[in-house]
Amino acid sequence: LTGARVSVRSFELGSSRIWIGEGAFGASEAWLAEWLEGRSVFVVTTPRVRLLHGGALGPLRQRARRWSVLEVPEGEAAKSVAVATALWERLVGEGVKRDSRLIGFGGGSVGDLGGFVAATILRGIEFSLLPTTLLAQVDASIGGKTAIDLPAAKNSVGAFHSPRFVVSDTAWLATLDPAEARAGWVEAVKKAVAFDRPLFERFQGSAALAQGFDGSLVPLLVDSAAHKIEVVRADPFEGGERRLLNLGHTLGHAIETAAGYGRLRHGECVVYGLLFALQLAEARGLPPADAAAVRDLLARLQPPALPRLDAAELMLLMARDKKALESGLPWVLPCRLGRAELEVVSHSEVEERLPRFLKAPWESASATL
Ligand SMILES: NC(=O)c1ccc[n+]([C@@H]2O[C@H](COP(=O)([O-])OP(=O)(O)OC[C@H]3O[C@@H](n4cnc5c(N)ncnc54)[C@H](O)[C@@H]3O)[C@@H](O)[C@H]2O)c1
Ligand SMILES: [Zn+2]
Repeated sequence: LTGARVSVRSFELGSSRIWIGEGAFGASEAWLAEWLEGRSVFVVTTPRVRLLHGGALGPLRQRARRWSVLEVPEGEAAKSVAVATALWERLVGEGVKRDSRLIGFGGGSVGDLGGFVAATILRGIEFSLLPTTLLAQVDASIGGKTAIDLPAAKNSVGAFHSPRFVVSDTAWLATLDPAEARAGWVEAVKKAVAFDRPLFERFQGSAALAQGFDGSLVPLLVDSAAHKIEVVRADPFEGGERRLLNLGHTLGHAIETAAGYGRLRHGECVVYGLLFALQLAEARGLPPADAAAVRDLLARLQPPALPRLDAAELMLLMARDKKALESGLPWVLPCRLGRAELEVVSHSEVEERLPRFLKAPWESASATL
């Protein structure tokens, strides 16, 4: 352990071991070192993360037999077939073996891509995640989902492949752009809306959210992540309750694809997906006061305005959603604050509401009737 600043929680989840908190890296270092001792290690990261925090990995590097840093583009651009192909070729070119190690060091994009490459190269090698964004620490690093995008459909190619270790050191978040941190909180707020009213109320009471991240928010971050861990533990392959974590993602993913990957942050698209879900939910009896409370909290996270988007294109993109059934698309809709349910919403209702929503996304459903 590295001293007084350590305030870290650790969890076991299936075959994964997870550390979260201020000083998590120090707390996990001996485990990571043993895991990669004497092996070829491939570190997938971005230039920015390498520059800002790469020095932290120095002691691990000493323990590896070989250490290759594979830089990939910043942001969603990393999650492409072309980048995955380049990594596969690099790994094979450098003699990857079944017991080589891969580390994803960066945000959710690096984790999704790195995990996917680890899942597929030689039919799967072990990997670990060192998430450096708030979104990746509270959400993306937990649960074993890996994916890349096709131009026409986000996350459409992927696999379940669980990391051996996840080390979420909140000290790395100090360099994060505040807008990036706010977009990350959206995933945690989403979870509170779908599952946990007391957690939602803690978000309401946290004025510091508007500034992004600071040390006072570490407990909220750790508890949000712990909550996701419990949801995944109960439903690892998304047959039941875990599906509720998709709240805000049906329209959110379509917006992300239609706007062009990288134009809006993932969390920002989920804000708009959530706002639309609120409209559908209000029409089904979500109390207006609950909907208003969610809108207020999302407004404090200050997403940029929605760009001009074509409703027909969004309808087409949603039809390609991974969750789509022959009978229609199951939407996750809150029935009250802290509880969500799955409901199949007809194509025609969505088609009718969407154009108005795109013009006035913050309105309540009563205003749109
Ligand atoms: N697998 C899952 O279960 C899951 C869940 C939620 C989201 N996701 C995916 O996660 C992705 C979004 O991840 P994200 O929000 O972390 O964004 P990101 O990975 O695109 O990172 C955003 C930017 O922040 C930079 N950055 C990272 N760490 C930094 C630091 N400590 N200081 C300064 N800059 C830093 C990155 O280099 C990048 O430029 C999406 O592709 C989304 O689909 C996956
Ligand atoms: Zn998400």
